[in-house]
Amino acid sequence: MKITVLGSGGWGTALALLLLDNGNDVTLWSYAEAQAALLEERRENPRLAGVPLPPELKLTASMDCLAESALVVMAVPSFAVRETARRAAPLLRPGTILVSVAKGIERDTALRMTEIIEQETGGNFPVAALSGPSHAEEVGRRTPTGCVAASRDLETARRVQNVFMAPMFRVYTNEDVVGVELGGALKNVLALCCGACDGMGLGDNAKALLMTRGMTEMARLGVALGGRKETFAGLSGMGDLIVTCTSMHSRNRRCGILVGQGKSAQEAMKEVGAVVEGYFAAFSAHQLAEKTGVEMPVCRCAYDVLYGGQTVRSVLERLMRRDKRHEADESWI
Ligand SMILES: NC(=O)c1ccc[n+]([C@@H]2O[C@H](COP(=O)([O-])OP(=O)(O)OC[C@H]3O[C@@H](n4cnc5c(N)ncnc54)[C@H](O)[C@@H]3O)[C@@H](O)[C@H]2O)c1
Repeated sequence: MKITVLGSGGWGTALALLLLDNGNDVTLWSYAEAQAALLEERRENPRLAGVPLPPELKLTASMDCLAESALVVMAVPSFAVRETARRAAPLLRPGTILVSVAKGIERDTALRMTEIIEQETGGNFPVAALSGPSHAEEVGRRTPTGCVAASRDLETARRVQNVFMAPMFRVYTNEDVVGVELGGALKNVLALCCGACDGMGLGDNAKALLMTRGMTEMARLGVALGGRKETFAGLSGMGDLIVTCTSMHSRNRRCGILVGQGKSAQEAMKEVGAVVEGYFAAFSAHQLAEKTGVEMPVCRCAYDVLYGGQTVRSVLERLMRRDKRHEADESWI
């Protein structure tokens, strides 16, 4: 199958290699000409150091290849999905499957990535989201990984499952696109919070508390927006939360560590040197919580620190002093 991967960051490159291993004819598109040229010259992506790009992997900065592609992977950062989908739309051939792998929620519209893609392509193409605990660095080394292919249309999800499934890459299907995409976006906010915990040296108990209660509020928002609670207990929810909150591969967690050590969000993101999706997702989570009336105390704290200039210590105290409640009380949804 002819496949184009739009976005040659760490994740786009790792997925392009996986799809190539699976016997596909793959083109990896870079946003910048200079990036495509550098990849061509080195045949290695610095984001996946030590993983060679085989000669069969085609590299380009032109979208011409889209006209021939039966499947297109959207692997640009979430802030660039709308612009990229808009550019790609007129070049796509009918029936092409569009797979979003970006994890985020659009600022101001609070739309999920597949919603943006559907808007920009006129709702004329089968669309799926692929999400789960999947560090590019590990997928690039072909270590065991599991993800979820989600589409409202189960047949589309199955087709994506068939294309991505590999000896070291398991893919499950799910029709709950809302739950799968929200899990992938919101866990980045919680990873920032867990990083801040680590940066302050607060220990494992604090992190487990944040992850567990954070998961509860993620699921609450997801259900309010039409997702299924069970999805949040799966790979794209709990699975991704665990991997992002505990690993040094996670730039969201690394950014949080720096914030916990007293750096501003801007200083921390500059030091991390890559897109920190959780910073943007914290804004969107706040917007969505306000819109739906769902209580999201942990995400609110992240928002207050990242956008409101409050200190991590002050919001932590506020969290710990919240009213007593039953663990399973969900009456405020
Ligand atoms: N890295 C991972 O392990 C991983 C895993 C799963 C999902 N994701 C998601 O995949 C998406 C991409 O992440 P990544 O880690 O590959 O990013 P990255 O930081 O490695 O690379 C970002 C890429 O986006 C390009 N870019 C910058 N501005 C752009 C624009 N305006 N339009 C198009 N492209 C632009 C850059 O040139 C760069 O190649 C994110 O949404 C991320 O959450 C990443």
